Amino acid sequence: MKNRSLVSINDLSREKILSLLEMAGKFEENPNRRLLAGKVIGSLFFEPSTRTRLSFETAANRLGARVIGFSDATTSSASKGETLKDTIMMVSNYADLIVMRHHLEGAARYASEISPCPVINAGDGANQHPSQTMLDLYSILKTQGTLENLHIHLVGDLKYGRTVHSLLFAMRHFKPTFHFISPEELHMPEEYREFCRVNNIPFTETTEFNESIIAQADILYMTRVQRERFSDLMEYEKVKNCYRLTNAMLASSKPNLRILHPLPRINEIAYDVDDNPKAYYFQQAQNGLYVREALICDVLGINVE
Ligand code: CP
Repeated sequence: MKNRSLVSINDLSREKILSLLEMAGKFEENPNRRLLAGKVIGSLFFEPSTRTRLSFETAANRLGARVIGFSDATTSSASKGETLKDTIMMVSNYADLIVMRHHLEGAARYASEISPCPVINAGDGANQHPSQTMLDLYSILKTQGTLENLHIHLVGDLKYGRTVHSLLFAMRHFKPTFHFISPEELHMPEEYREFCRVNNIPFTETTEFNESIIAQADILYMTRVQRERFSDLMEYEKVKNCYRLTNAMLASSKPNLRILHPLPRINEIAYDVDDNPKAYYFQQAQNGLYVREALICDVLGINVE
């Protein structure tokens, strides 16, 4: 890679992941540090976002940088037919770093290869979402006290959910056992199951989602069915309500269980779960600020100390 871009979670070693999590801890202690005064961050969201965009932009603001960009590609010249290449070349004339979300898998890799400034992948299609994974790891470490030897249940849309794909790759460093819970139509793609086999990561697969399955989990990672990835909306209608976690289903769960969700949720977590102390998804999203402060500094080569 020609610069310090973050495109895939596989770009990060175990040591690098742990050092970034430690850095995020420092930002949690004090998020307001003017480490980026004079810097400009380009925030290019070709796909909708609430948490990722706002937490990256908040991170930039709390670090003293300024933010340019768009949250709706129809307001950019992409809507007139400008190519991704030309958009990236233009924004890199103005910004020190580009944070980009794009619907095409591989778009972030391509942008990082042509951009003179670093690029952070804020989600590319169904492929990867590495900054989400870093905040997921931070949340797991914070709530479990370790990343090692955990039973992680991934629930819902395992076919199109880029957050579960990135998390699976990252956890290879930490001896997890995965449990894939999805309808047949949305099961974990073969490349990720093969990745588990090659890396000696045990996993189970089931279409059942019930109290006894939840009882084994340390982390219950719920996901939304990704309507925007279906070419046939009739297929989406068949699976959109496949699972719904309710508070009653947590009756036999482990004391250390925490429920994560990258959000947004649609109806896969009932509101009665929100008041359960094991529900952690809103704190998880809050952790995104500290982790993204760490990622921006790291990609720009800025030492927190
Ligand atoms: N988790 C996540 O990527 O949320 P947004 O789509 O709101 O950014």
